[in-house]
This record gives sequence, structure tokens and C-alpha cells, in this order.
Amino acid sequence: MKFDTPAQQNPIDQLKVIGKPTDRIDGPRKTTGTATYAYEHHQQLADAAYGHVVGAGIAKGRIIAMDTDAARRAPGVLAVVTAANAGKLTKGDFNTAQLLGGPQIQHYHQAIALVVAESFEQARAAAGLIKVQYQREHGAYDLAQARAGASVPKDGEPDTAVGDFAAAFAAAPVQLDATYHTPDQSHAMMEPHASIARWDGDQLTLYTSNQMINWGRGDVAKTLGIARENVRLLSPFIGGGFGGKLFVRADAILAALGARAAGRPVKVALQRPLIANNTTHRPATLQRVRIGTGKDGRITAIGHESWSGDLPGGGPEVAVQQTRLLYAGANRMTRMRLAVLDLPEGNAMRAPGEAPGMMALEIAMDELAEKLGMDPVELRILNDTQVDPEHPQRPFSQRQFVQCLREGAKRFGWDARSSQPAQVRDGRWLVGMGMASGFRNNLTMKSAARVRLDRQGKLIVETDMTDIGTGSYTIIAQTAAEMLGVPLQDVDVRLGDSAFPVSAGSGGQWGANSSTAGVYAACVKLREQVAEKAGIAVSDAQFSDGHVHAGDRRVALGELAADGELVAEDAIEFGDLGKKAQQSTFAGHFVEVGVDAYTGETRVRRMLAVCAAGRILNPKSARSQVIGAMTMAVGAALSEELVIDKRLGFFVNHDLAGYEVPVHADIPHQEVVFLDETDPQSSPMKAKGVGELGICGVAAAVANAIYNASGVRVRDYPITLDKLLDGLPQVV
Ligand code: MOS
Repeated sequence: MKFDTPAQQNPIDQLKVIGKPTDRIDGPRKTTGTATYAYEHHQQLADAAYGHVVGAGIAKGRIIAMDTDAARRAPGVLAVVTAANAGKLTKGDFNTAQLLGGPQIQHYHQAIALVVAESFEQARAAAGLIKVQYQREHGAYDLAQARAGASVPKDGEPDTAVGDFAAAFAAAPVQLDATYHTPDQSHAMMEPHASIARWDGDQLTLYTSNQMINWGRGDVAKTLGIARENVRLLSPFIGGGFGGKLFVRADAILAALGARAAGRPVKVALQRPLIANNTTHRPATLQRVRIGTGKDGRITAIGHESWSGDLPGGGPEVAVQQTRLLYAGANRMTRMRLAVLDLPEGNAMRAPGEAPGMMALEIAMDELAEKLGMDPVELRILNDTQVDPEHPQRPFSQRQFVQCLREGAKRFGWDARSSQPAQVRDGRWLVGMGMASGFRNNLTMKSAARVRLDRQGKLIVETDMTDIGTGSYTIIAQTAAEMLGVPLQDVDVRLGDSAFPVSAGSGGQWGANSSTAGVYAACVKLREQVAEKAGIAVSDAQFSDGHVHAGDRRVALGELAADGELVAEDAIEFGDLGKKAQQSTFAGHFVEVGVDAYTGETRVRRMLAVCAAGRILNPKSARSQVIGAMTMAVGAALSEELVIDKRLGFFVNHDLAGYEVPVHADIPHQEVVFLDETDPQSSPMKAKGVGELGICGVAAAVANAIYNASGVRVRDYPITLDKLLDGLPQVV
């Protein structure tokens, strides 16, 4: 199904199942431990051996000698895989560095060996016997230092300009010019990257934890030099990804190589201490934001520059993305520069671009409001735009940005905020409120599905879409149930298998809208088949209570499949509606914090997000996405930072003891409000994404609340207490 004109009224609009806060249909399996994650396919693979990954002990250089003899002779060892015996490996399209290094080493903890043994303990013990001699080379590990030599990135739009930014900024009566730093961050998902590989002749089956089955299938085939038809990827349950599992990683490739070498299925879970340096991370940024306004607060010039680093061949963090679209202003510029760093591979993490970009831009807006003596909410509303500011003839498909801010301010009690910082005390706590805009683009991706109707009248939906904890199973079941008029419990959703039609996958907050639209397309075809079989014109056919009917003709769906399943398959293919109008999602984020007047410790006291993001397919799973993202942003604001050893070039705090993410005790009551919205230009579902919108802006709202509480402006994340202590007001 081509989607190239805005959606009309369609069966989804009935909202009998869609739009209801349905519990997750996979919930019972998750909570009883019967959802099978990648490492847990024991039943099919009872004879699996265990692989243990060895990571490089240098960041850059060469292996000059590697002694694996003792490891090979160790008890239980079946194979030792290294670059020297693995055969030719080709770098995958989505990887920046080789997944098995050697002799050249491209980053710290790049995998250099897999030891396969009968037991995990034997594999781990033997891995400790491998002796490696390295020749270390100097590398670049410091973004601030490498910034001067940064170059223009090849892809994307590194430089944009409208009007004359320099002249307009220079002439602006009110100017803000500030530089912000966001650190490297790790996805820190609960389930480590894990895979089990099995070879049947030249056929490879990989149970793995991967957000994008089809990308993964292609890159496994490419890396190993085999046909993609010979690769099957299965990823039915995923314990979190956040972008860290968009791509094939070392666990999958090493499991495949280990299984080949051992002649047995092999399971590999990346050890937690390897994840930070072996896999991808969100790259650090330095961002300079310049905004010029008239005395009335209207923006006349807005400029945003960002510097980030990556390994050779990598890409920039697109931190300026939102600044092109969020606020009005006739004169504008953005610029990105990319430095070569020999740190591990940088790549997407939840809301790549906007998440760190908003961390800078939205503190800048708070600083600007203070310079202007304006309320930060009013400053943002004043500078709203209903068109793409770079292309004023191009509207937004929907933009309820101002409504988000107004509704949020009202619900949060923003009126009560003291515009003067450090005025409100609650015992030992300095209390403050902060807010920020939320913005993230809405992307759409081609997505296919197959729907089968069986003789019991049940529907089976098959698509290689993944559920990374987001609720895909549930909203896909809701979509099929709505389309065919069957109860939700009569829909069986099967996901995460490369044998199924290729979906959009889980990434870039496009998954919910795109994958359900693909299911919609397949269901439209199935409705046609059903109607024809029932002798009803499809235009007259009604689907409800497990029946198709028109006038006084009424047939049970199961009857129509009595002599064989009815099967329909289709894909949603998006035309250029996304070019004609800008599709984005919006939010107003509000936060209250307490800063300990004596220690500088920050505690978040209240959080509110008001979101406008198209039709909300399931308010319960959508809310869960947003509160999860808000929680992640509290980590970004207060604690998350991969600390770099700048001499040796690695992330030092590479486990969950040293890399601190929020726990329940850190998170107060959170409120999420979705404004009524349908976006007919986004898809037949009229939905958009929320999973990344929820993180964009929140960390800045926390930073702004800290400023309001304490009077200390921190432009360097995370805002740890050492950065506050010196500036705290004198405590009497
Ligand atoms: Mo997302 S960072 O595209 O999983």
C-alpha cells in the first residue's frame, strides 16, 4: 500500500481497540520469566557451548604476538577464535570498526578472541590464560583538544544558513552566546548483547538481541561473507536497546564463528564490563549556541554549532537538528564538525541528535529568558513558528507546541515559580522549578506484515518488527483486532524473526507508527479476501464480533477459513508527505528539584510532560515510554557520563556500579499528558512516535530547575554536586 495522500476516515478511527490503555499482552510472560530472551533458548539448543569474549587492552595499535596455547589446552575448551583463524571478515554496513580486531586494534575492548568451552566458567578461566603483546600507538581521546582539527562531516547537512546570521546577531540588542558540554553516554540496557548461533550446513540461525532484524541479517551475511538467505535472525524478546542494539555487534559474529569452529551451537553474552567500550555509545558534544533577540524577546538570529568525535569513517552527533525547526527567526545557521577520536565507536542512542541538542539549546533559552527578564514559557511561545523556518512555504503537519507549554504550565503550577533563583527553601532543600521544550522529529519507514485468518476465527500476525520493551506486541494486536473486528485475545502476534515480512524495526521512534501501518496494510488486503469469500462487497462489509456482515448477511470469520487459512501480506510504503510538511512531535517538560543547601545533592521532586504526538495507540504503553525516557533524562542530567582515561583512551566506569543510572528511589511522581491529536499525514494510523520525544528537553528542564533552586548555572553535564558546591548560597 502506497501512502502518499493524507489518510481519510478508516477502520482505525472506530477506536474500539486502538486508543485503549490495554495491558501489555506479553506482560504475563515477562513477569513470570517465560519470555525467552536471546541467551535463554535452552530447549532448542541444549547442546550449546559457552563463549567468552576477550577485549583488547589497548585503544590503538597492533597485536604483535598472541599466545593462545594455554587457553586451548585448558579444561573443557573447544575452540579459540581470533582474527588469525577466523577467515576473511568484512566490516558490516552499519559498523564503523571491525567486530573482531587484530592485528590492528581500533579501540579499547575491541574483541580480539572468543574462547569456547563446555561451561561458562571454563571459557572464562581459559580466556584469562591468553597472553597478548601489543604495540601501542598514540591516539586522540579528548574532544576539546581534537576540536581544532575537526573537519566537515561527509554525510548529512553539516552547514545550513538562512539570511545573514552574523550581521543579525551582531545587531541584536539582546545576545546570548554560551557553550555547553554533553558527555559520552552508554545505553546501559538491562539485557546485555547476547546471541546463540547454530549452523546447519551452511545455514546459520542466530538467536540474538537486536532491534533491526533486516539490517542485522544483511550485516551478519556481509561480515561472514555468506548469502543473506542463509542467515536467520530471531529476536522475539529484547531486554532494552535504546539504539545500542540497532546494529550487529561482536556477540553475534563471535557466536557464529565460535559455533563454526566448535562444531556446536555457541552462546555468547557480552560481559557487562565490556559493553561500554566494546559496543557503541552516544558521543560527547561541545555545542555553542548563539541567539539574538529584539528587546521584546523575538528571535532575530539563531545559531547552533556542534563538535563531536568518532573513529575514522564514523559520523557526527546531529545535535543541531532541532534548532533548524523549533523556533522562529529570520537569520539562522547550524554547523557540525567531526573530530577523529580513537575512542570506541559512537552511534545512535535514544533520540540521537535531539537528546543532546536539546540539552544545550534549552538551557540557552532559559539563560536568554533571564537576560530578557521574560518568563521562559512565554519566551518560547513568543518564538513559535507554524512553518519550517528554513522553508516558510512548508508547514508542519501538526504542531501543538504552544498548547503543550500552556497546558503544562497550568497543570504544574508554574505561576508559583519564583523568577529569582535561590528564593525557595524547604528545610535543607533549595527548591526550584524548570521547564524546557520537547521536540523530536517523526520519521516513517516502509514496513511489511502478513496476517493469517484460521478456522477458529483467530488472527496470526507475522512481521520481523521487534519489541524492545516498548509494547509492539500489544499495539500490533490492537491494530489487527480493530481492523478485523475480533477480540484482542484472538490475535496472536509473532515478531522478531527474519523469516517474517520485513518491518520498520525499532529505531528512531518510528517503530510504533510504521509497523502498525504495515499491519494495517496487510489487514486491508485480508478484509478484501474475507469480504469476497463471504459474498459481500468490501465497501459494504462491516467487521465486528468475529463476523463480517452487511445488511442481513453475517458470516463468522472462522467459517470462511474452514478449508484453509486466508493469508494476506502487504507493506506500507511512504511517499513524500514527509517532505511536503514537516512531521515532528512536541512536548512541554516541567521539573521541580530540591538541591541540598549543604551538600549540593539534587533530588527531583516532581516531573510533568505534556506531549503532542499524533494519535496515541495505547495510552498505557505510550505513558510507559515517556516516563522511561524522562527517567533516562534524569540520568543524563545528574549522573550519566562515560569517564574517559585520556592517556590510555578508554571509558573507565564500564559497569553499572560506576556508570550510574537512576533507580526507583531517584524518581518521584511523574505525570504524562497526551494532547488530543491525529495526524493524517503520518500514516493511516495517524500516529507518531513518543519513545524518544520523552527524553528530549527533560535534562535541560532539570538543569534549569537546579539553576532556579540554587542560582548556579551549570553548562557541563552531568550536573554533579561538585559543580554546584562553590556557587551555593551562603547557608546561615
Ligand atoms: Mo534509536 S537510538 O534509533 O534505537
